[in-house]
Amino acid sequence: MPQSRLFTQKLAETATATGQMLDGLLAPATLAGEIMRPARLLEAMRYASLGGGKRLRPFLLAQTAALFGVSGVGVWRAAAALEMVHGYSLIHDDLPAMDDDDLRRGRPTVHKAYDEAIAILAGDALLTLAFDTLADPATHPDAGVRAALVLGLARASGLGGMAGGQALDLAAEQSATPLRQDDISQLQAMKTGALISFAVAAGALLGKADAATTSALANYARAIGAAFQIADDILDAEGNAEKLGKRANKDAGRNKATFVQAMGLPAARARRDALVAQAQAALNATGLGDVTSILHMTAHYIASRDF
Ligand code: IPE
Ligand code: IPE
Ligand code: MG
Ligand code: MG
Ligand code: MG
Repeated sequence: MPQSRLFTQKLAETATATGQMLDGLLAPATLAGEIMRPARLLEAMRYASLGGGKRLRPFLLAQTAALFGVSGVGVWRAAAALEMVHGYSLIHDDLPAMDDDDLRRGRPTVHKAYDEAIAILAGDALLTLAFDTLADPATHPDAGVRAALVLGLARASGLGGMAGGQALDLAAEQSATPLRQDDISQLQAMKTGALISFAVAAGALLGKADAATTSALANYARAIGAAFQIADDILDAEGNAEKLGKRANKDAGRNKATFVQAMGLPAARARRDALVAQAQAALNATGLGDVTSILHMTAHYIASRDF
């Protein structure tokens, strides 16, 4: 089977497994300690979480764990928790107070399909359910591993990670002078890179990777995370909303700080490709050999994807 077919098939398998896990976690039945699950809020959370998305973060988590022969329910629970935080970040990112978007994954955004209050609350409840899912003994028998997952996702999602990066992204829109390239890198490492890095770190944690391997994998994750956001910015500028399932050509009009804006499309493409090469080198430095081929393909996919 050609490499790209194998990769597409594996990504589709991840999407199915992640969707099934999310479907189960977002069921009407209450968990111990919950009082009841309001139907409309649950429906909005399901709308945001099911039936779309590349599921790249779950894929990275599961494939990193698989490097160490680890798979199963705990891996999919951790992957679903991460995808819940990602889904929450998208719901809030699309709100009028942030990027003000009306289309996501080929459908109306949550605040358009429901309303703004429900969109805010669906995000809040997805964020908290993510930590609920990680902390639950069903995710891992070792409380130390569960605590490390919770801590890692908290650090990646919050003030010094995704939420902080979103604040910098919005502040940059208002800035009279364009951001320096180092500042754009930092902003993107926070708003996008942090969750991608957590995907790989969680896989390494579940796989009980040693410190040197974990560090080489973190270098890989940092590079693909940076490449991923540059690719997203390039796709916005290239403008195929049909394929993207979200509006295109929006970043320039909103004065977004991107490498496309800072250096132009050809140089942004070159930077993306250089980051992919860095990611490949980091993978080679793990010394894990052939088992990393799927992560090599992932780095290539991040640069070559068209949605
Ligand atoms: C979009 O993420 C937001 C960014 C961080 C650029 P994805 O491109 O992974 O979105 P889905 O989950 O596939 O819809
Ligand atoms: C989004 O970046 C990053 C997060 C959601 C944290 P963008 O604002 O570029 O993502 P899209 O283009 O709306 O998917
Ligand atoms: Mg945004
Ligand atoms: Mg946006
Ligand atoms: Mg974008």
